Amino acid sequence: MKKILIINGPNLNLLGVREPEIYGDTSMEAYIDSLRQRHPRVELDYFQSNHEGAIIDQLHAVGFDNAVDGIVLNAGAYTHTSLAIADAIAAIQTPVVEVHISNVNAREEIRHRSLIAPVCRGVIAGFGMDSYRLAIEALIG
Ligand code: DQA
Repeated sequence: MKKILIINGPNLNLLGVREPEIYGDTSMEAYIDSLRQRHPRVELDYFQSNHEGAIIDQLHAVGFDNAVDGIVLNAGAYTHTSLAIADAIAAIQTPVVEVHISNVNAREEIRHRSLIAPVCRGVIAGFGMDSYRLAIEALIG
């Protein structure tokens, strides 16, 4: 059994409601249910916070001693701004995959820069909610 933690950052509690033309109309809760059905041998946990420090605390909490096998992180807009989250990822042992629902590189220029990408294992963006599944499969594969 592999353990994966999905961490969602700011405004991603509003998935399904927020700008559905960009982020779709599925809630994260419904999507996680479908992921659990698809991957019954993966223990999937979920954490969401709108607060930078809470995301950092969570990275520290699961980042050592094989607490989980991998972290799938959609840091939302903090992707583009947070040196503190980048430092936390660099500090921990657990591999982190950066995920975006939208194709950030096809959007405004400010979204093209990721401060966290250099310290992540890889980046998956632009496949809608399926980006999370692809990241999980990369981590368990
Ligand atoms: C996002 C892209 C970010 O630029 C944006 O700030 C988000 C969501 C995505 O999943 O496409 O909040 O990370």
